[in-house]
Amino acid sequence: MQDVKGKVAFITGGASGMGLGMARAFGAAGMKVMLGDIEQEPLDRAVAELRGKGYEAAGVHVDVADRDSVFAAAEATIKAFGKVHVLCNNAGIGVSGKSEKCAMENWRWVVDVNLWGVIYGLQAFVPLIESHGEGGHVMSTASMAGMVSFRYMGPYNATKFAVVTIMETMMEEHRDDNLGVSVLCPGVVATNIASGTRNRQDRYGGMREARDLEANEEMLGKGLDPDIVGEQVLEAILEGQPYIFTDPSMRKYIDKRFQRLSAGYDWADNCQALKKDRRAKAAT
Ligand SMILES: NC(=O)c1ccc[n+]([C@@H]2O[C@H](COP(=O)([O-])OP(=O)(O)OC[C@H]3O[C@@H](n4cnc5c(N)ncnc54)[C@H](O)[C@@H]3O)[C@@H](O)[C@H]2O)c1
Repeated sequence: MQDVKGKVAFITGGASGMGLGMARAFGAAGMKVMLGDIEQEPLDRAVAELRGKGYEAAGVHVDVADRDSVFAAAEATIKAFGKVHVLCNNAGIGVSGKSEKCAMENWRWVVDVNLWGVIYGLQAFVPLIESHGEGGHVMSTASMAGMVSFRYMGPYNATKFAVVTIMETMMEEHRDDNLGVSVLCPGVVATNIASGTRNRQDRYGGMREARDLEANEEMLGKGLDPDIVGEQVLEAILEGQPYIFTDPSMRKYIDKRFQRLSAGYDWADNCQALKKDRRAKAAT
């Protein structure tokens, strides 16, 4: 998208952290902003803040893990602003723990919010963006945990890798049309995600004490300002940038992953079973 002024954006998880950072950046650029969030009070505060700055903003209560709720939010967006051009699938939560030991309700919660939430968002909003022919952009928030597999984060990593591949697939599918596609892979950002269990729905066992909460909060506190990430997302939409990384010092983790993958091919080159197969084929 080359011109975003007057265009409409819908942002999930817009009441806090990076979602609110995106809303601030979009509002400052003259966009109309619809915030979707599961937490009503912070949502109301965020909308009031944006309106106080003179931006056109509205909010809708949404649980991204609930398909009907996401489709209702899409309807509310059209009712409020008539059209939608930009989707930011950003709401997310984290759970830690070894994959094989993580409670099933933790697995379900993180998959429902971080993965199904993104899928519902795409299905509800992309047809609406395509319907007016003015073009638009779809951005989903994954993580560096969607690029490299950090230990004790199996369930979270699984959802974020899935989000990366969905967005990479869409990049291919929309290469020749006017829908831009990006995936945001933040490093550490100073948000409220360490207290993500505040939003844990009753059906997953309700609010829990997060493990290592204080350590997480301390680490996050030293992270990047989420408003900077919001500005990065706006810049990426305007420039059609597919990958949005927030911490250049983390490039080394991606390099190390590629080295490990490449070493897998070195092993395959010398593996007995493939050598045997090559010999058999050469002999026929
Ligand atoms: N903070 C980091 O260091 C970091 C790093 C990498 C990726 N991320 C990702 O960034 C995204 C935004 O998180 P954040 O760090 O800004 O955290 P945050 O907790 O400050 O904001 C997340 C927002 O999502 C909302 N939310 C949670 N569950 C929801 C649901 N079911 N339906 C609708 N809204 C819901 C919360 O109420 C909150 O407003 C997440 O997808 C997260 O996984 C964060």
